[in-house]
Amino acid sequence: MSRLSMLLRASTLAFALPVCAIAQAADPIVVKFSHVVAEKTPKGQAALKFKELAEAKLPGKVRVEVYPSSQLFGDGKELEALLLGDVQLIAPSLSKFDRYTKKLQVFDLPFLFSDLDAVERFQAGPAGQSLLDAMKSKNLKGLAYWHNGTKQLSTDKDQLKRPEDVKGLKFRIQSSDVLEAQFRALGANPQKMAFSEVYQALQTGVVDGQENTWSNIYSQKFHEVQKSIAVTDHGLVEYLVVTNAKWWDRLPADIRKGLAEAMAEATRYGNGKAAELNAAARTKIEAAGKARIVALTAEDKAAWQKAMAPVWKKFEGGIGRDLIDAALKANNK
Ligand code: LMR
Repeated sequence: MSRLSMLLRASTLAFALPVCAIAQAADPIVVKFSHVVAEKTPKGQAALKFKELAEAKLPGKVRVEVYPSSQLFGDGKELEALLLGDVQLIAPSLSKFDRYTKKLQVFDLPFLFSDLDAVERFQAGPAGQSLLDAMKSKNLKGLAYWHNGTKQLSTDKDQLKRPEDVKGLKFRIQSSDVLEAQFRALGANPQKMAFSEVYQALQTGVVDGQENTWSNIYSQKFHEVQKSIAVTDHGLVEYLVVTNAKWWDRLPADIRKGLAEAMAEATRYGNGKAAELNAAARTKIEAAGKARIVALTAEDKAAWQKAMAPVWKKFEGGIGRDLIDAALKANNK
């Protein structure tokens, strides 16, 4: 058979195939979603919901692979991996973008928001939405904010009520200069460390304490290697789902639309569950009876707030006063 007639035959065959067979033959676009927490946490649950929704909306066109618990990339690697195209979605805590923008540091200012509704109002408002594109020039595109909740402070000491109780103690922190300054303001020694290393560092006494949400403390078993957890609610663990902007822009329009819709729905789902998951984790920590949960009076809280206050001035210039004001405004309903 001549080369021409072979080609003609092949193309006729292709036309004869039912459309669905051709669609099935095309490989789906693989979307790798890497994160560092356990599946039974607000972020873990939202990521699984995104997979379910994206694959249902784009059957055969997209396969979402979710890698929890730093299985694929941990802190320190996931942002580089995203830029290199080794992963397509990640959702780091807002404390982990220091190297890419100073603007997101607003979320780390201690005692900035009055409650989680205020955080939601700020994120949904014009200032919060503009921050989704704060790292555009670095090829990072923010797709959504995902909630976790407020941080509590834990240590391996019995006494944990007032700011002076943490003087001289070593604390694991996320890779955030604001959090570093926060612990220095308390007279403590902060140490930046990947999330996956925290349990062992607490267990072996490399650090004395850490700050995190109830769901992270429970799912990582931090409460088993800490003596006290003070209910400080002094800061946030909130996330930005980010993608590689070039990858996103080059997606076929129908795929990008389907993924954006799945992201919006998964965001509503996960954000609606975050508070409940944290409350349940707190109850389980209480029931486990290992770390003592220390309630604070309004006066104790005011003392923590005062001790951490110097941090605001230090970072105001990099963040921008306009953003801080917009965040404060969100505290008024
Ligand atoms: C941490 O590193 O403590 C948290 O940001 C982990 C996470 O993603 O919730």
